[in-house]
Amino acid sequence: MKKLILVGSTGVIGKKVSELLSSEYEIVTVNRTSGDYQLDMSDATAVENMFKEIGGFDSLIATSGYGKWGSIDEHSIQDFHDGLKSKLMGQVNLVMIGRKYANTGASFAVSSGILAQHPVVGGLSLGMINAGLEAFVRGAGLELNDMTVNAVSPSFAKETMELMGMDSSTGVPAIEFAKLYKQAIESGKSGQIYHV
Ligand SMILES: NC(=O)c1ccc[n+]([C@@H]2O[C@H](COP(=O)([O-])OP(=O)(O)OC[C@H]3O[C@@H](n4cnc5c(N)ncnc54)[C@H](OP(=O)(O)O)[C@@H]3O)[C@@H](O)[C@H]2O)c1
Repeated sequence: MKKLILVGSTGVIGKKVSELLSSEYEIVTVNRTSGDYQLDMSDATAVENMFKEIGGFDSLIATSGYGKWGSIDEHSIQDFHDGLKSKLMGQVNLVMIGRKYANTGASFAVSSGILAQHPVVGGLSLGMINAGLEAFVRGAGLELNDMTVNAVSPSFAKETMELMGMDSSTGVPAIEFAKLYKQAIESGKSGQIYHV
């Protein structure tokens, strides 16, 4: 069975990715507070140590990372730094360090989000992070010849809207995003951004 590292396996989307792929892949789970490995993906040393312990792997999916949700007046400069360190550089760490340990032909899928292209009030930090991550994926996709790297850009998950107490009628069930991560790691394409 192919080995898949899933960073963010306990989240709204990660849980669905795990359900969808668990019969086809040996899944190694990674989160901050639970799972086979517990670490903050923004800590490059911890990420390197994890890959050393795991050894070779075939795919990595990241459904993880923090970015501030709030209006421009609610944003401090530190809030931008926190999001860039967590969601942007955390996922960049997983690809940049993980590629040294990955098996030939390995595939990576990271998470951006619809705010990269469609700004809304409150989404300033996350939009900036998502756009930066997508630029990284397009660039890395050009240069990594023996592996693939793609991003999935979720819109708004129905389950997340419910958790936030919002009207979820326009939300997309998280399983639909999970199917995109599967496509992203199995398509053989690289540098792509997958949307629902
Ligand atoms: N849900 C949506 O509607 C939506 C829309 C657009 C984009 N996205 C993006 O999709 C991804 C997944 O979203 P989600 O809603 O499923 O997230 P979520 O429910 O908040 O879950 C996040 C998961 O990632 C782990 N995690 C968070 N920060 C981490 C870090 N620094 N290092 C290691 N693990 C970390 C969490 O583990 P712990 O609980 O142990 O911290 C948890 O398992 C995120 O990047 C998010 O920005 C989501």
